[in-house]
Amino acid sequence: MTSAADPLTLVLVGPMAAGKTSVGRRVARRLGVAFVDTDKRIVAEHGPISGIFAEYGEAHFRELERAAVAQALADGGVISLGGGAVTQAATRELLKAHPVVFLTVNPDAVADRLRGSNRPLLSGDEDPVERWKKIFEERRGWYAEVASTTFDTSRRPMQKIADDIVTWRREQR
Ligand code: S3P
Repeated sequence: MTSAADPLTLVLVGPMAAGKTSVGRRVARRLGVAFVDTDKRIVAEHGPISGIFAEYGEAHFRELERAAVAQALADGGVISLGGGAVTQAATRELLKAHPVVFLTVNPDAVADRLRGSNRPLLSGDEDPVERWKKIFEERRGWYAEVASTTFDTSRRPMQKIADDIVTWRREQR
């Protein structure tokens, strides 16, 4: 599961607004390793995600995402993925060799976090929280398939959740 060169790589997956970036940043700081957000890498290289979806479609975004995940895993560190990365079999395959933390969150907690968000999959006419719930249910099995462990972020401070993940990760070595 781990290699001597990079003993503390771990991956965070979960639905939109589960706290993958906030928790991941804190976990990386505590472990003393790099933090990588694959969405941010895609944006840095290809521009805003909403623009990629609008201009080239979701399938194109998923391919950019798979490549970004492969690169991030090769680089190592704490890696947070976009919520839909697990929908791709090729991306799930890449995750098999790594410790993966599934972050869950309930709809009440997510409502606040989605306010002001610019996520293309939540931008239609439907209520964003209802749409979020449907997407999460569609993907739940994929998250469970890749997950080594699960933490819920609905109620506790992100720092406490990060501390628990660090403890868990150190026990895996
Ligand atoms: C997506 C989640 C987003 C981003 C893109 C698609 C999804 O990331 O990758 O908008 O399909 O769930 P977050 O999970 O960080 O919001």
